[in-house]
Order: sequence, then C-alpha cells, then structure tokens
Amino acid sequence: EKAGYDHFMLKEIYEQPEAIKDTYRGRMLPEKGLIRMSGVDDNIEKFLNAKRIIVIACGTSWHAGLVSEYLFEDFARIPVEVEYASEFRYRNPIINEDDVVIAISQSGETADTMAAIKIAKEKGAFVFGVCNVVGSSISRETHAGAYTHAGPEIGVASTKAFTTQITILTLIALKLGKQKGEISNSQFHAYLNELNTIPEKIERTLETNEEVIKVAEAYKNAKNCLYLGRGHNFPVALEGALKLKEISYIHAEGYPAAEMKHGPIALIDEMMPVVVIATKKGHYEKVVSNIQEIKSRKGKIIAVVTEGDTSVKQMADHILEVPDTIEEFTPLLTTIPLQLLSYHIAVMLDKNVDQPRNLAKSVTVE
Ligand code: M6R
Repeated sequence: EKAGYDHFMLKEIYEQPEAIKDTYRGRMLPEKGLIRMSGVDDNIEKFLNAKRIIVIACGTSWHAGLVSEYLFEDFARIPVEVEYASEFRYRNPIINEDDVVIAISQSGETADTMAAIKIAKEKGAFVFGVCNVVGSSISRETHAGAYTHAGPEIGVASTKAFTTQITILTLIALKLGKQKGEISNSQFHAYLNELNTIPEKIERTLETNEEVIKVAEAYKNAKNCLYLGRGHNFPVALEGALKLKEISYIHAEGYPAAEMKHGPIALIDEMMPVVVIATKKGHYEKVVSNIQEIKSRKGKIIAVVTEGDTSVKQMADHILEVPDTIEEFTPLLTTIPLQLLSYHIAVMLDKNVDQPRNLAKSVTVE
C-alpha cells in the first residue's frame, strides 16, 4: 500500500504532481480560458459581493489559508482575514452577511474548525468548505465547497493536502479575479497555462531529493532551526518549520524574513541552520540582504532558490533549486524541498515519520 516507498509521507510527497492534476482536472480548462467549479458557480453572487473573506483552519490547513490571503489580494482584490479556528470560536467574532467564510480541513473532522463553522453559520455567513475527505463532517456542515481530490493522506504530517488546498484556493482566486474584471483575458490565459505547468515543475523540484539528503545529513543534529520567507513564501516558512517540529522533534520557527532584525537575529550563531526561501521574485533583493545579515553572524544558510540563481549561491552553505514560475505559484514549488528535508531528518533520527508522538491524523478533540 506504500507503493514501494518506505513511508506514507514520502509516497504522498511524490504523489503531489498527480494530486494537483486531479485537483484541477475538469475545473481548469486552459484551452477554453475557463475555471469551472460548481460550488463557486452556484454561489457566484455571494463570492462576487463579498466585502471580505474570512478563512478558518488549523495547522497546515491554516498555512494554506495564509497563502490564499496573498492570492485573493493579488488576483481578486478581496480583503482576507485568516484565523485559527480555535481562536475564532472563542472570541466574539464580527461576521456580516456579506462575508464569505472559507473553512479548510484535510480530514473534514477537526473539532475546532467544525465549531468555528457553526458560529459563522449562526451569524449568517455563507460558509464554503475546502476538504479532502469526501463526505466528512465539515463537507456536510458547510453550505457549499470544493474537494481537493488529493486522495487518502495517511501520514500525520500533511503534504499533498497542503499543495492541493493551495491549488483549489488559487483556482477560486483566479476565477473571482477574472469575473470581477481584475484580471484581463490574456492575463487569465497566461495564469492558467502557467498553473498547468506546475505538476511538471514539481516533478523537477522532487529531483532536489539527493541534495536535500545531504542537507539533512549536515543538520540532523541541530537543536533549533529557523525558516524565513517573505510575501507569498512567508506561510511556506511557517509550514516548513511545522513539518520539522512535528516529525523530527527539532525545535523550529518560521518567520517573515524581515522580522528577523526585531528579535530572532539574536539567536543566530554557527550552530543555527536557517532555511531561507529566496526565489527570484518579489522581495528577492531584500531576502539577499537578510542572508548577508545571517552569514555575518555565522549562521548556516540553506537557501531555496530559483534555478540558475547565482547571487544567493555565493553566500549560501547549501542551495535547493526550484524551477521558475510566477510569484503567486512559487509556494507550490518551494514547499517541496522543505517537506523532503523534514522527512529525511526524521528518518535519519529514527523517528516514527508517519505517526509522530502525541499527534493524531485528525484532531477531533477541542
Ligand atoms: O484535517 P485538518 O486539515 O483540519 O487538520 C488540521 C491540522 O490538525 C493538521 O494540518 C496538522 O497541523 C498536520 N498534522 C500538520 O502536518
């Protein structure tokens, strides 16, 4: 059932190109220049009139929600708030009838997310679910939704659920952007064609595996690890850190790269590996100067860069290359080496990769 892989997690990491295709198949029609999603189409007025989107989720699904904040802002110009379900439900959240609430959950059974959905519904919001497990409680409790079609995710550490959640949210953001007139026809075509290349680019990204193993070997005994990213890749830094904590039990923290100088920089010494997402988009120059700051304090840099990068290569201790794509789609690629890194470190430390201690696949307790 592991199809020749040592662990479900590794199998699921390698399934991502196919899982993403399964997620957009039949929904994204690049030749027709169309995105078709019944759960969105049937409620299109609610989405188009939304003054705000509130995303509620936990853990990795919450990170996918953070990625979507950038997507909805960039593509559809809709303000977004991303909330931990567990915080949302215990506040007195202000929800209006013209808010669209998107609940994201792989399992569709997470108790905190479920409770938050109930509150949002009571307050009159339209609630849209992004779930992986078909027929799950959350998929039934929401007004409408879209399944991720990632197939069963057995490893407790979420991998393909994350990238397929991002895929769904990208489709929704592009669709709304197009319908709201924020994206022109030709741009829209270009975005769809680019999204269509992502599975193949993930295949290429998976080829970093050999290099990732070397990095894992070099840092497997680290006690701490920092992950930095900016913009669209800030949530990827959080997700990379969560993956490492969860399965290798190494303390890791994700930060927006520019926040470093407001505190975490004090942690940097020759014992501190810092994983930096430094793809050649967005805030590249700024991230390069963050890398210089870390190097001058003797931190070790593991940089995720765009293929062919030369400036970061000169400074970094290790580089992991991903193919070029538009900034909005980079998280789908930059996440991959970070998943592999946590996987290999956990295996080298002889941890129970698929079933880390103290954790369950779906957290049905509050
Ligand atoms: O099933 P859900 O997406 O609602 O689960 C949410 C979190 O419990 C989950 O993402 C958790 O953080 C993962 N184990 C992370 O890898």
